Amino acid sequence: MTPAELDALYRRAVRAASRGFGGAEPNPMVGCVIVDEAGAIVSTGFHRRCGGPHAEVDALAAAGGRARGATAIVTLEPCAHRGRTGPCAEALADAGVARVYFAVADPNPSAAGGAARLRARGVEAEHRPHPLAAELSLPFVHRVRTGLPWIAAKWAQSIDGAVALASGESQWLSCARSRRAVHRARGRVDAILTGIGTVLADDPQLTARGVRVSRVARRIVFDPDAMTPTEARVLSKDAPTEILVRADLDARGAARAERLAARGATIRALGPRDSMREPLTALARDGVSTVLVESGGGVVGRLLAEDLLDEAWVFVAPLVVGDEAAIRAVRGLDPTALAGIARARLVSLRRRGADALLQYRWRTADADPSTS
Ligand SMILES: NC(=O)c1ccc[n+]([C@@H]2O[C@H](COP(=O)([O-])OP(=O)(O)OC[C@H]3O[C@@H](n4cnc5c(N)ncnc54)[C@H](OP(=O)(O)O)[C@@H]3O)[C@@H](O)[C@H]2O)c1
Repeated sequence: MTPAELDALYRRAVRAASRGFGGAEPNPMVGCVIVDEAGAIVSTGFHRRCGGPHAEVDALAAAGGRARGATAIVTLEPCAHRGRTGPCAEALADAGVARVYFAVADPNPSAAGGAARLRARGVEAEHRPHPLAAELSLPFVHRVRTGLPWIAAKWAQSIDGAVALASGESQWLSCARSRRAVHRARGRVDAILTGIGTVLADDPQLTARGVRVSRVARRIVFDPDAMTPTEARVLSKDAPTEILVRADLDARGAARAERLAARGATIRALGPRDSMREPLTALARDGVSTVLVESGGGVVGRLLAEDLLDEAWVFVAPLVVGDEAAIRAVRGLDPTALAGIARARLVSLRRRGADALLQYRWRTADADPSTS
């Protein structure tokens, strides 16, 4: 198979995998294409829902006897473990598949080893990375490797980096098209995170409105002193809400937390020294792979200080505020030298109506420095 043919088949497998979006989680989205010896497509499969057949099994079922002697192209290494479904490596070998190309090695120690298992059964198995498959599997791979969700912050700022006027006014800096892009993003993530500063200043709802929603994200508020007003819109019934409070709240704080619980919020404790790592790790354990941060600079600064932020989406609106007292996108960091500041990578640069959308990453899909 030529590299161009393999590239086209991986693209097809990624497209198939994407159809599992909203159903496969917390499992990864996976796609599989089976081609015969002449290179003709026999079948395509994907992982529709967690607990259901894996992509390989889905594609094998559609291929039937035509899988014998065929090649399977899979976005993620076929699993070797017997979870809720049987090991895909065995299913491929049993069906007589002759060769398997996979784009991403399985990071999950309990499921890995599929390639070795295939080879032991006489099936050729080759790891051939592909950028789109790496991107597709990124949150899952990151969660399995680090025990943390993939955390992306978004904010809208002026050309000179203000996210709100000194008065706290920030609605609306960005244009309608940018805001729609944010609603789309809200409909695609597992959790939306904000801070008490934003709840008090903007009273956001943090729900995806006017767009197609693949799943309802839970809302998380970092609110150390349980100051969220009981009538805050973030407590609406449209989505579950978790409020993270200091573990050692005084009696009045505990009473405020109880009132929030009575409004339907789940109250959880922050880690030692109000660290965000513990609650975010707990979220990942709970199957949360993607988090969208929609906070002010306080929370973003804390995430950066704890090296928890993976990505930033910065909407730059075409205006200058020019006031030194204006609120900045990030605060709380205290760098002493430029050389000591971690540089992000500019991943994309797009126009959204009147705004520019800059996407930055501190980690990448194929080389995750937090784990290497
Ligand atoms: N343009 C935009 O896209 C956009 C988006 C959202 C908000 N905003 C604006 O941002 C402003 C609010 O900024 P902000 O920085 O106050 O809001 P924030 O980031 O939403 O919340 C920060 C607050 O939460 C506290 N906090 C959060 N996590 C904590 C933790 N783990 N431990 C201890 N304290 C924790 C912070 O304490 P410390 O003070 O001790 O850090 C601070 O009081 C508003 O004016 C809002 O309009 C703009």
